[in-house]
Amino acid sequence: MCGIVGALLRSGSVTEGLIEGLSVLEYRGYDSAGVAVAREQGVEVCKRSGRLANLENALRESGFGASPAGIGHTRWATHGEPSDSNAHPHTGRSGRLAVVHNGIIENHVELKRELLSAGESFTSETDTEVLARMIDRHWVEEGDDEDALLRAVARVVPRLKGYYALALLATTPRGPVLVAVRQGPPLVVGVTEDGGFLSSDQLGVLPRTRDVVFLEDGDVARVGPGRLQVTDARGVEVVREATTIAWDPSDSGKGKYPHHMLKEIHEQPDVIARTAFDRIDLGAGDVRFEGGAFDDAFCRSIERVQILACGTALHAGQIARYLIEGLAGIPVDFDFASEFRYRQPRVVEGTLALAITQSGETADTLAATRLARELGARTTAICNVAGSTQVRESDAAILTHAGPEVGVASTKAFTAQVAAAILLAVRLARSRGALPEHKARELLEELRMIRPKVESLLTDAAIARCRAVARQHAGKRGFLFLGRGINFPVALEGALKLKEIAYVHAEGYAAGEMKHGPIALVDNDMAILVINAAGAVAEKTRANIEQTKARGGVMISVGSDDASHAIAAMSVPVPVTSEWLSPLLNSIPLQLVAYHIAEIRGCDIDKPRNLAKSVTVE
Ligand code: F6R
Repeated sequence: MCGIVGALLRSGSVTEGLIEGLSVLEYRGYDSAGVAVAREQGVEVCKRSGRLANLENALRESGFGASPAGIGHTRWATHGEPSDSNAHPHTGRSGRLAVVHNGIIENHVELKRELLSAGESFTSETDTEVLARMIDRHWVEEGDDEDALLRAVARVVPRLKGYYALALLATTPRGPVLVAVRQGPPLVVGVTEDGGFLSSDQLGVLPRTRDVVFLEDGDVARVGPGRLQVTDARGVEVVREATTIAWDPSDSGKGKYPHHMLKEIHEQPDVIARTAFDRIDLGAGDVRFEGGAFDDAFCRSIERVQILACGTALHAGQIARYLIEGLAGIPVDFDFASEFRYRQPRVVEGTLALAITQSGETADTLAATRLARELGARTTAICNVAGSTQVRESDAAILTHAGPEVGVASTKAFTAQVAAAILLAVRLARSRGALPEHKARELLEELRMIRPKVESLLTDAAIARCRAVARQHAGKRGFLFLGRGINFPVALEGALKLKEIAYVHAEGYAAGEMKHGPIALVDNDMAILVINAAGAVAEKTRANIEQTKARGGVMISVGSDDASHAIAAMSVPVPVTSEWLSPLLNSIPLQLVAYHIAEIRGCDIDKPRNLAKSVTVE
């Protein structure tokens, strides 16, 4: 949420690299974009509301010159509407300092009042400008060099309430200075002999170096060529170890696909394989996690699992509940991370808090997990980003190997989370004797063989079926997604995908709940997708199809239950697999249907309105 980049080069011009970094980070927010570069006499700013392309045009037209130091920002608005004046960077009155910011300064109104009464004036409605003005005023009082700037930052930071990641660019008599401050949202730094680079996401630094440092809360860092100096929250200089990122910079491109989302949908056979296969020990009918994590003693000590996540990740969490309760017999609760803190949760002894998050930086999930820890839970994470805050703060983590997910609508990260949840459930079950070896082996063998089944859902013929459903129904007033058992969360996820990228009202519902109210919505302007896998609940779900069809509902069946296809108006068949694994397959046609409806409706698929990826505010 809000993308930040910064660079201080030994020589050359920084602007092109800043724009390149912002284009990689644009998924974090696309309400406006801006850059500031250092000149001898001060900082020069160019910023525009709307997409990055507007900024690029403005830079071309203005003949923005070369500079070796600069910062850039792509915004998801929190304070003040998306406009040129509210766009970042914001500057101090001296004209020698510019600031970009991700997060919220909660006490900005009070600080602004104080500055106004001291004669300060403002050009925007943002909390960020308050920061820029405040730091600048203190800097002027402290002197004009880098050390004086650091003293100014040290005076301002203790006065700020909220969550923020900042990049500061300043012009001093001895040259430009680049400073990063982290309190909450992520900041990643990379240093080479040619330059110092910072970004709110490792993807922004990856084109420069794979060795990155994840700053910690309270850190203030000075960044430059061959230089990274970090002081921690107590003002003590510390060394932060670098982590080598395994991702390839080209992984974050669109490849041959028109959208990141479509590329990421097509990556799912590989992603599931990468996340699951090497961890399967078929000989033992068990799962082995790296470094012996989740060993028998640890798993047996778990009395209860509390799942915490948001959005799509929570849907993966709901699937995890069916798996862990069904296979391992451990009671599981799940909560919206944003709600967990506000219901006075009771955490009993032996609770394992399981956070599920693609980014590992979602503020609500981090806050909920911290609370669970405070209340005595041990914490673990299913997460896609190795150096993320969630992973670093967890007692143990299961990394998904989905690679960078750039499309705002999560697809491959979701199936990777489900694959990881299957592994965890089997390990928990095996550790406590809840699942006999031969049964576990059978399930794991089925998982090991799932790749061609996933691929079969991505052939031209399979995609054409999803496109046909989209064409037939794109104009419908509303959509219902129905599922039972482990495929109920798949229905929720199908509805979320459609809402977020195609802006169509859609509801996910437990199939059996329809008759308790929502069936009143059904008429022939309502498309109803029923997810029904061959298995224990197939017959009951079929009965729900009949009830809904009898009220004029237009039924589309997705799944491996042939009898459902026979009674539906349209169908998307899915290969048969174990019911436990069926969400891995059933979710793919739903992603494709949403994608094609969004395409037909002319929506901006990779950058849906009002959204941003990695939600680092609560
Ligand atoms: C929807 C989507 C969001 C995220 C949610 C949590 O397609 O991507 O609902 O799942 O914001 O994000 P992470 O997984 O990064 O914690």
